[in-house]
Amino acid sequence: MERLRVGVIGLGEIGGAHCASIATLPQAALVAVADLRSDVAAKVAATYGAKAYATADELLAHPDLDAVIIALPDHLHRAAAEAAAAAGKAMLVEKPLAVDAEDARAIVRAADAAKVFLMVGFTVRYFPQYLRARQAVESGELGTIVSAFARRVNVVTQTDRIAGRVGVLHFLGVHDFDALRWVMGDEVASVHCVSATSAPLAHNVEHETFTTLTFKKGAIACVQAGWYLPTTHPAGFDFRLDLTGRDGSLNLSMMEQGIAIHGRSGTSYPYMASPLIAEDRDFVDRVLAGAPSPITGADGLAAGAIVDAALESIATGRVIQL
Ligand SMILES: NC(=O)c1ccc[n+]([C@@H]2O[C@H](COP(=O)([O-])OP(=O)(O)OC[C@H]3O[C@@H](n4cnc5c(N)ncnc54)[C@H](O)[C@@H]3O)[C@@H](O)[C@H]2O)c1
Repeated sequence: MERLRVGVIGLGEIGGAHCASIATLPQAALVAVADLRSDVAAKVAATYGAKAYATADELLAHPDLDAVIIALPDHLHRAAAEAAAAAGKAMLVEKPLAVDAEDARAIVRAADAAKVFLMVGFTVRYFPQYLRARQAVESGELGTIVSAFARRVNVVTQTDRIAGRVGVLHFLGVHDFDALRWVMGDEVASVHCVSATSAPLAHNVEHETFTTLTFKKGAIACVQAGWYLPTTHPAGFDFRLDLTGRDGSLNLSMMEQGIAIHGRSGTSYPYMASPLIAEDRDFVDRVLAGAPSPITGADGLAAGAIVDAALESIATGRVIQL
């Protein structure tokens, strides 16, 4: 079987998970990993039989490398993606494509110019529950969609982990901005966002937001993105999607997947599917098959534009037209 030789750049929370995910795929081989933290790179490399590097540029010079997963902090995506494109490597870039719109456009330009495969890591599209919601809309089961409510809330310790690198809209909101475009099969026309100020956290970014979206076909949506869940919260996340259509409604809760485990260290609500493995499998299979990207640079730009509009709306109090 032909195997795609993959390198992972950035071995933090999600980069480490991508390594474990790629290692489960018989059609892929994790050949190289890179992180500035040399101890982490060496340990991950030893775990998977890969070669350890410090930087993206060093990893991209690895012989016999076909594709890379860029899991660096958001503001570093552009330089690594441009280098990967120049090296002719297929790439999966973690969400958001970039923090800055010009950086995001530069990534798309570089991939287009080099004619390399570019996929954006909007993992929510690979949760079976969200896929089913999309099918319910696409099949007409719910009738014309009138409104949607999406919640993506994390535990409060996430703010110190991200340390003001980006706010909650880039970290969490962008997932639902993309998912709603995809589930509803529609584009956002206008954006209004408010941000709570009652209990500020240490980092000077938005922490709790309600973003109201109007869609081109007339539906409305509200996205709650926040990270104020207490550390005692049994799941550490609260992700929901409610859809109301002319002929039906849909309620999705990621906590209610049919299993709760009450163990020595408390209650947990485990995921019943691994969306990251499904995402990485789709990336690998499509690159091997020469198939088009399922989540394009244009998708990354569209979701990023909604984040930018929401931030502008918080700053000005205005409704922003896209
Ligand atoms: N798809 C998802 O569900 C999901 C989940 C979490 C994070 N993310 C995204 O993944 C990206 C990474 O987030 P994270 O939470 O894993 O971050 P992280 O801080 O946990 O990890 C980043 C890693 O990059 C390394 N690094 C930093 N600068 C480097 C450089 N110049 N060269 C090499 N290595 C360098 C750090 O040492 C660290 O190990 C972000 O864009 C984030 O939004 C996506």
